[in-house]
Amino acid sequence: MMNRLEKKVAVVTGAGGGLGRIYSRRLAAEGADVAAWDLNGPGAEETARLISDAGRRGLGLKVDVTREDQVMAAAKATFDAFGRIDILINNAGIVRDVPPAPIESISLDEWNRIISVNLTGAFLASKAVVPYMKRSGRGKIINVSSGTALHGGSIRLDYICSKAGVIGLTRALAVMLGPDWINVNVIAPGPVPYTLRDLDKGATPDEAEAKFPSDLIFAGRHIKREIQPSDLDGLVAFLASPESDMITGQLITVDGGRVFVG
Ligand SMILES: NC(=O)c1ccc[n+]([C@@H]2O[C@H](COP(=O)([O-])OP(=O)(O)OC[C@H]3O[C@@H](n4cnc5c(N)ncnc54)[C@H](O)[C@@H]3O)[C@@H](O)[C@H]2O)c1
Repeated sequence: MMNRLEKKVAVVTGAGGGLGRIYSRRLAAEGADVAAWDLNGPGAEETARLISDAGRRGLGLKVDVTREDQVMAAAKATFDAFGRIDILINNAGIVRDVPPAPIESISLDEWNRIISVNLTGAFLASKAVVPYMKRSGRGKIINVSSGTALHGGSIRLDYICSKAGVIGLTRALAVMLGPDWINVNVIAPGPVPYTLRDLDKGATPDEAEAKFPSDLIFAGRHIKREIQPSDLDGLVAFLASPESDMITGQLITVDGGRVFVG
């Protein structure tokens, strides 16, 4: 493993499990100290413990990314603990249990909940860490959208709209923060198999697989295999590293080419 992130401090939101934990561990493996923020406090602490076990400094914080006071306090606590903030991965999101549904059945409360976690949360976390990045004279923000924002299907429309908003946030911040040497990019993964995410909720591998209709998804993909977390974490580390210093405002899909075939 390269040490591209030596002496860097990363904040990963939604790092209490799932892909956020995987990103956190990869950043630590490349040398970063990591603050894991999550609504799930014990999950965030567990991620921090894994970072410490890997020989880097880890900090687990219970944070609701929709609450400006909590996000501001978490940024300060991270800076106080580590003395800098170089990298932000805006990964927290509601992605589970939002299957496609008719628009008539989506309540305003549900719409607001999804938008506030998936989009407003990324806005607030960015707002909170940018002043610290400016102090260092550089920074990297990596947002997490979804292939659904581009092709418009597979999941409920409020989720799709929230993830489309994240692309707009990326472009606007890239323009705004370029003069401060802060890069802002966005990744749009296709679906990562539920087998990797739902077994902890008691699903058997067969049940979990049934919820992930691979054949259908593969049909619209140039590269016909499932997306693994290892297809994503190296990209996140690259976008967090100096190797991507001249890349900003970019959307990178990781979906085997699906969006290009409709
Ligand atoms: N898994 C996929 O197939 C897939 C595909 C494309 C994009 N994504 C995106 O990747 C990100 C991670 O997905 P995942 O599969 O690991 O999901 P996940 O449900 O396993 O993890 C999401 C994390 O976000 C946290 N979270 C939720 N609300 C929060 C809040 N208000 N404040 C702070 N933390 C909060 C959860 O506690 C959880 O730890 C999400 O943004 C998701 O939309 C996932």
